[in-house]
Amino acid sequence: MENEVTETAAENFYLSGNYAPVAEEVSTSQLTVTGALPRELNGRYLRIGPNPREQVDPATYHWFSGAGMVHGIRLRDGRAEWYRSRFVESEAHTPNTNVLAHSGRILALAEAGRPPVEITPDLARMAVWDCDGTLGRGFTAHPKTDPVTGDMHAITYNPNFTATRYVVLDDDGKVKHTSDIDLDDGPMIHDMALTETRVVVLDLPVTLAAGMRRAQAGEPVSNLPYVWDDRHPARVGLVPVGGTAEQIQWIEVPRCFVFHVLNAYDNPDGSLTLDVIRYDEVFLRDMHGPGGSVPTLVRWAINPATGAVNEEAIGDYSVEFPRINAELVGRPHRYGWFAGVGAHGLEITDDVERSQTNGGLETGPLVKVDTVTGTSQIHHYGPARVTMEPAFVPRRNAEGEDDGWILSVVHDANTNLAELVVLDAADINAGPIARVHLPHRIPFGFHGNWIPDTEIVQGSMTSLC
Ligand SMILES: [Fe+2]
Repeated sequence: MENEVTETAAENFYLSGNYAPVAEEVSTSQLTVTGALPRELNGRYLRIGPNPREQVDPATYHWFSGAGMVHGIRLRDGRAEWYRSRFVESEAHTPNTNVLAHSGRILALAEAGRPPVEITPDLARMAVWDCDGTLGRGFTAHPKTDPVTGDMHAITYNPNFTATRYVVLDDDGKVKHTSDIDLDDGPMIHDMALTETRVVVLDLPVTLAAGMRRAQAGEPVSNLPYVWDDRHPARVGLVPVGGTAEQIQWIEVPRCFVFHVLNAYDNPDGSLTLDVIRYDEVFLRDMHGPGGSVPTLVRWAINPATGAVNEEAIGDYSVEFPRINAELVGRPHRYGWFAGVGAHGLEITDDVERSQTNGGLETGPLVKVDTVTGTSQIHHYGPARVTMEPAFVPRRNAEGEDDGWILSVVHDANTNLAELVVLDAADINAGPIARVHLPHRIPFGFHGNWIPDTEIVQGSMTSLC
């Protein structure tokens, strides 16, 4: 199986079409809006993705490795004031994976030993933010913030060290806790889960050790040689919140890989519910990105007392980029919003094998899943118009979990331009509330977030952590 590389140097999916980088930084103002932007959306929608500035070798280029570009759309009082795109530049590196706010700062994030880069709210200045060196071994692109305590929990790793590190930052951005967790083989750990009482470490079979074995055998590897590892276990580690490696409980899970967690929560009987996007395998046939397997939303019911794990598929479509109402991180949730996979939405039926694609990861319509009923809603943005990761923004004084808006960047292949589209999160079928027309395209990237003005402290970049 490990020789079944389907792409050639001339056909790197992740350098073609709307995956191809844009060459220039852009600043535009007074954007055209169709519909009516909600006037309480005062802030900026930011997203980030790989956008290599220098020439890269298509034979070895891995989608996850490209230097980052951040895109920002400023909304205020019902107007779309500007769109700006900026190469992420710092003295150390250029994160490409996530951009979010914490402790009043806007932070661009990546995993595998790279520290956050702080970006000013106007996207004009950037600098490494490593909390006075305490994050010297890097951070993660997918920390989880407890909505009650404000603490930010992170599982970080660094290819140069054997230990994975559990890090907790307080709401001022100060490191308040660390514990090193020794793991074999150098697993890729992209995300994590948090409940009210536990942190969940994903130790799954994509590892640097397997990539090194592949390279030593003369087989093709990318410039980010993390590959599927037949020898590595698939397990999750449960650590008490604020706990240490000595307290970890490992539980075997179905053999798969997970980039993204929708959410997790504790149940009254002591069990744990963990909703994840499951890949049967990844980086086995596609060496340049996560193609080759159909991602599906599954629920793991984990019983720590017995070590039993029950897996159940949820929803009707293949989905990625899962998002919930952030007020429910670590608490029982009902709804998830996702980018559907496949331009038309790939229904998971008996005739769809989960391991069947050889192309890269292509998103399509927006999908909302009700995890209580198991039903899905789907919103198509129109022919040749596909969404990137959605973000849920709660309405002020929201009356329900889905009382708010879905913001996402939609790529229109008809015009080769992007839009920021606002939907009613409670009824995605009702059609767009507003469309902000951008005069440029935004390449398919990774993650984005709505960052309200209230979460930003002006001038924070000069403050000490
Ligand atoms: Fe991610």
